[in-house]
Amino acid sequence: MNSTEAAADTLDPDTIDLADPATFADHDLSEFWRMLRDTRPVHWNQATRHRRGFWVLTRHDDIMAVYRDDTNFTSERGNVLVTLLEGGDVGAGRMLAVTDGPRHEQLRKIMLKSLGPRTLGPVAAAVRANTRHLIREAVARGDCDFALDIASRIPMTTISNLLGVPESDRDFLLAQTKAALSADDADADEVESAMARNEILLYFQDLVEQRRKAPGEDLISVLVDSVVAGEPLSDEDIVLNCYSLIIGGDETSRLSMIDSVYTLAAHPEQWRLLKNGECAIDTAVDEVLRWASPSMHFGRTAVRDTEIRGVRIGVNDIVTLWHAAANRDERVFDRPQVFDLRRTPNRQISFGYGPHYCVGSYLAKIEISELLMALRDLTTGFERIGDAPRIRSNLLTGFSSLPVRFFPDHAGLSRHDSAER
Ligand code: HEM
Repeated sequence: MNSTEAAADTLDPDTIDLADPATFADHDLSEFWRMLRDTRPVHWNQATRHRRGFWVLTRHDDIMAVYRDDTNFTSERGNVLVTLLEGGDVGAGRMLAVTDGPRHEQLRKIMLKSLGPRTLGPVAAAVRANTRHLIREAVARGDCDFALDIASRIPMTTISNLLGVPESDRDFLLAQTKAALSADDADADEVESAMARNEILLYFQDLVEQRRKAPGEDLISVLVDSVVAGEPLSDEDIVLNCYSLIIGGDETSRLSMIDSVYTLAAHPEQWRLLKNGECAIDTAVDEVLRWASPSMHFGRTAVRDTEIRGVRIGVNDIVTLWHAAANRDERVFDRPQVFDLRRTPNRQISFGYGPHYCVGSYLAKIEISELLMALRDLTTGFERIGDAPRIRSNLLTGFSSLPVRFFPDHAGLSRHDSAER
């Protein structure tokens, strides 16, 4: 929060604009979400002169119902506000997240060959080694920017390994990804993001051509070798899906990890539970994901007239589903405003639900759990030593920078050093 933030309970639902990134940068929305859940569970975000209006769902069960309902709602006209409001996504019918029906099912099966729990063993080992290496370096230095020095180097390295992206190209891809999706500063503009998206597509076009000539073990080679609806995937289809893995898998995981360190630094009693092995890592990971809710919303377009909670939803209406609100729904979570690493059950909805449930969820959970275990084993704790600026986005939430000081656990460092060799 900063001094320009308005008190949350003064927000007027008839004027607040959830399409505007400034809304999230300038306000703490917790009370606003609560008010919508309680009094306007099917809320209409007014149109402006420049864009149409859209529905806003905030209750956990309503959101699950729409995610499940691919008869009345489609993803093929976009699944996040920026594309929904433009009326479509260039990847529709080709990119997994914005493809429906049998084609989606077939493509998803192919992607799961590389992203499913049974095949991720070697990837998990590489994530573990990379994470521990980065934490050791940071502990040795003492101070670091956790966002830049550690978190930004975990998911991108992992996805790059999956896709077979050479080491030398990774910094370039990371920079383009940041520019394409969220703006770390207020001055970044839409032209710059569009150029970055284009750069990523061109980059993958090159890589697909290389894999057609010389296939390897990576996910691009799996896609090159696949058949969907009786036809091999085109270069363009493969490129779009690589793009979606980078876009979907880098920033969300990164922001969750940054949020976990930010939140643990602010909740020493929860850190002690983790450090003393008094909470199961899987349980802690779910709470980190619930708390961070890194992708605040996803959305759908109605393909026919329908109803939600007795409210008429017209054909072609946009319905947005707010994880940020559903993950704090009192109807589902006991004391939702409390960060509790031992929370069970935990029906966090950060990965969505239904046919499009995040295909990278296993990988994301591996990344977050390896981080928590590395922090537990190699440090006695950490503290924030500077401001943590928020990214500006209507889709993603989290911090672009997080200056921290780590305190070494000397016994842990030497014990795990010999175990890791
Ligand atoms: C789908 C969130 C990590 C790739 C989704 C969806 C959500 C989500 C909410 C559903 C979108 C919809 O229904 O329209 C997250 C979060 C992550 C994460 C919060 C990290 C904490 C990843 C990773 C990858 C990935 C690591 C790739 C390696 C995808 C893809 C889809 C998807 C390809 C589309 C799945 C489909 O349509 O069948 N993600 N994701 N995500 N995610 Fe993730």
